[in-house]
Amino acid sequence: MEGNYAIILAAGKGKRMNCNINKQFIKIENKPVLYYSIDTFSKNELIDGIILVCAKDEIEYCRHEIVERYNFTKVLDIVEGGAERQDSVLNALESLKKHKCNIVLIHDGARPFVTNRILNDGIKYCKIYNACACGVKPKDTIKIKNKDGFSIDTVNRENTVLVQTPQCFNYKIILDCHEKILQQHIRVTDDTAVVEYCGNKVFLYAGSYDNIKITTPEDLQLSNRIVNNFKNN
Ligand code: CTP
Ligand code: MG
Repeated sequence: MEGNYAIILAAGKGKRMNCNINKQFIKIENKPVLYYSIDTFSKNELIDGIILVCAKDEIEYCRHEIVERYNFTKVLDIVEGGAERQDSVLNALESLKKHKCNIVLIHDGARPFVTNRILNDGIKYCKIYNACACGVKPKDTIKIKNKDGFSIDTVNRENTVLVQTPQCFNYKIILDCHEKILQQHIRVTDDTAVVEYCGNKVFLYAGSYDNIKITTPEDLQLSNRIVNNFKNN
């Protein structure tokens, strides 16, 4: 029986956070940012195993301070990240070759407030469409501007989505696409772009406004508010 596996990424440098420790290890209510998403994936019965991706010099810290401390037994492996996000993803996809993987959910470790509902929907839509990602409607009007700083157009908000993670894929498709873009030296910022580049369609489903990515210091203040809501859900 082929299973559903998660890749949780924590190998970035967090430059925009401007903090002396990796943003995934900063504490929200006494637990590291990375704890929250691993906990949610671990408790989901449809997830068979988790691959964590960390910077080389943080693998041991992560193993002791997160995986062992919170007894996350679904974490099968901690693999070394790469220079860019897509390199980190590819390392993890390769390490899944030794497991029988059908669906892979790729998630930013910097998004602590992903919910069980979002994971279940991701797996459900991936079974139908082979590729899906969650997201939310922008609340502000979106403009296109020219190089002089003037607005030249307004985007129809109904047709726009702020894409989040998890992004869920048929394992063979996402692995093939990643290998292909590597050979062609294509650079992307997320995995939907990888499969789209190779001609696949990505279904977009509802994420949540609380499923924020912790990127800059003000996101930490927001997280300290969201966490109370999150614990009650
Ligand atoms: N990530 C990764 N490997 C990289 C780059 C990013 O695993 N080489 C992960 C980050 O740890 C994060 C997620 O991808 O969980 C989303 O990336 P982002 O928010 O951009 O994190 P950073 O790249 O760490 O931050 P910044 O861009 O501000 O440096
Ligand atoms: Mg980045």
